[in-house]
Amino acid sequence: MKNILLKQRTPSIAEYIQLRTSIGWKILPEDKIKAGLEHSTYCICAEDNGKIVGFGRIVGDGATVFYIQDIMVMPSYQKHKIGTRIMENIMEYMKEHSTQGAIIGLIAISELDGFYQKFGFAYNEHNRFYRYN
Ligand SMILES: CC(C)(COP(=O)(O)OP(=O)(O)OC[C@H]1O[C@@H](n2cnc3c(N)ncnc32)[C@H](O)[C@@H]1OP(=O)(O)O)[C@@H](O)C(=O)NCCC(=O)NCCS
Repeated sequence: MKNILLKQRTPSIAEYIQLRTSIGWKILPEDKIKAGLEHSTYCICAEDNGKIVGFGRIVGDGATVFYIQDIMVMPSYQKHKIGTRIMENIMEYMKEHSTQGAIIGLIAISELDGFYQKFGFAYNEHNRFYRYN
């Protein structure tokens, strides 16, 4: 795991699908994936000898609202701090590009409270995530 490099680039559709499939997340139509990736504010890929093994991105308006999305590391590469490096990189981007009072958020399962707390995120029980059915 020593040669994992972080690269700021948009992943290919195939890479994105490969990563999502590896962790069991659903796959939307390819044309939607393409448009979604292209509209991302910021993308960061983790690579092992050119092969994608992790990813994270920011979506939002690029100035006042930033949502962290799709933080994922392939199962065989998990628990080697790759997710931590991806989040550190994303928070560096935030430091440079966000402003005081900007909304910076993410949605995560409760098991990851500890993981995200390290980067300054706190779960707020008064704010609920409403998902359209
Ligand atoms: C969550 C995820 C990105 C973490 O990546 P990773 O490279 O395995 O994480 P790291 O090795 O950097 O772990 C950092 C810390 O988080 C903890 N952690 C990592 N994954 C965890 C999990 N699934 N549940 C609880 N704690 C977890 C680690 O134990 C570690 O703690 P430590 O610093 O006390 O040792 C990765 O497990 C993953 O892709 N999971 C599936 C997709 C997912 O749920 N993504 C998050 C979407 S919000």
